[in-house]
Amino acid sequence: EPNLPPYSHELPWPDGLEPFKVVDDGSQGDPYAHYAWMLENAPVLRAASATTDVWFISRFEDVRKALRAPKVFSSEVVKPVPLTFLTLIDAPDHARLRQIVAKAFTPKAIGLFEDRIRETATRLLDELIARGGGDVVEEYAIPLSMSTISALLDVPAEDFDKMKFWSDETFSYFGRLARNAPGTGTDEESALAFFAYLKDTMERLHAAGNESVGGQIARMWKDGQLSEKEAKELCAFVFIAGHDTTTILLANAFRVCAENPHLLAQVRETPSGAEKFVEELARFRGTVQRVSRVTTEDVEVAGVVVPAGSIVRLMPAAANHDPRKYPNPDVFDLDRDTSGHMGFGHGVHACLGAPLARLETVVTAELLSQRLAGVALDPAHPIEYVRGNNLTNSGPERLVVSVEGRK
Ligand code: HEM
Repeated sequence: EPNLPPYSHELPWPDGLEPFKVVDDGSQGDPYAHYAWMLENAPVLRAASATTDVWFISRFEDVRKALRAPKVFSSEVVKPVPLTFLTLIDAPDHARLRQIVAKAFTPKAIGLFEDRIRETATRLLDELIARGGGDVVEEYAIPLSMSTISALLDVPAEDFDKMKFWSDETFSYFGRLARNAPGTGTDEESALAFFAYLKDTMERLHAAGNESVGGQIARMWKDGQLSEKEAKELCAFVFIAGHDTTTILLANAFRVCAENPHLLAQVRETPSGAEKFVEELARFRGTVQRVSRVTTEDVEVAGVVVPAGSIVRLMPAAANHDPRKYPNPDVFDLDRDTSGHMGFGHGVHACLGAPLARLETVVTAELLSQRLAGVALDPAHPIEYVRGNNLTNSGPERLVVSVEGRK
């Protein structure tokens, strides 16, 4: 019987590991010990219960191959596609929409942000140093990523809180659609309010001839290249895809520096140290744990036949810790060859905002290494992790550190 599940989440997990609730709560927090076990023992893990039937694929080569085969591993896990979110759409629509959005993400357009990012990051870090530390999620990572992503749509700072609320609600609405789960409807109301706000914003940007990403999407809507629904939802998607992901990576930059006290000086003293730091960070403690696909035909992975129509979670964060690709994967090694890591995905859906996320994180690494003598986790405040229905992103929601400035 080739299609019998070779593994299930009911398999006994090794002593000392909490049951890995891959299905229910995304094992927020520190999943790497679980990943190590999966990579070794269950490279294709089927989690089946009365309500769920999902296949998890963790090894580097398997994830990479799957991401390179979008016809077999389709992104259209929800049909009909409910929202114009690029990660939910296959060719040919995906190629058309991605090409349009990509035009707004040229290196030149991203370069325009550098001064703003550096200025904001410097101010936030100086304030943190003056206070001797604090919650870097709230006091550094959110304000930096919000101010950057909001510049893409040229929205005023006083709207940030509202947009963050709407955007989180829209993400949960989309998650609910994806799971076909009934709900209260308040997340749907928020999503509609968000789209209406984005429509008004695009009208304003278009009238002003604004060249931001939002302004360019507005122009394509007015040119007839995009429908109103597509334009609004693409703006929402860029915002959603870009802010939590970056927030978590920025917070993790502080975390690895606290956990590896030699790093600040090493980054400072190594040529291109900040760039190397960011690639290793995206490999070692990246944001995106899993991306969802549905198989369009029977496909063999690691010797197991995954039948057509299966929901599959490809796990870039686990793949980035596969010792077959990265020796001693659980060590943060600034000098490691990180090439090929999938911290920003891979293949036709690879992250469009990666240059921007990299820029924010490189600037952060430079500033940390130049301005800090030390950073330490605050033992009185254990790290709190992102919770809720978001099983894609994992990382700190509250990360309290003490910092010491360099003289
Ligand atoms: C797609 C990660 C920041 C925009 C993706 C994917 C990953 C990812 C893994 C692929 C999803 C899939 O294959 O299904 C990240 C991480 C970030 C980050 C870790 C920050 C640390 C950003 C930012 C933006 C952005 C700042 C925009 C300003 C996008 C878009 C896509 C995408 C538009 C969809 C591409 C497509 O489906 O064709 N991202 N991202 N991301 N990301 Fe990011």
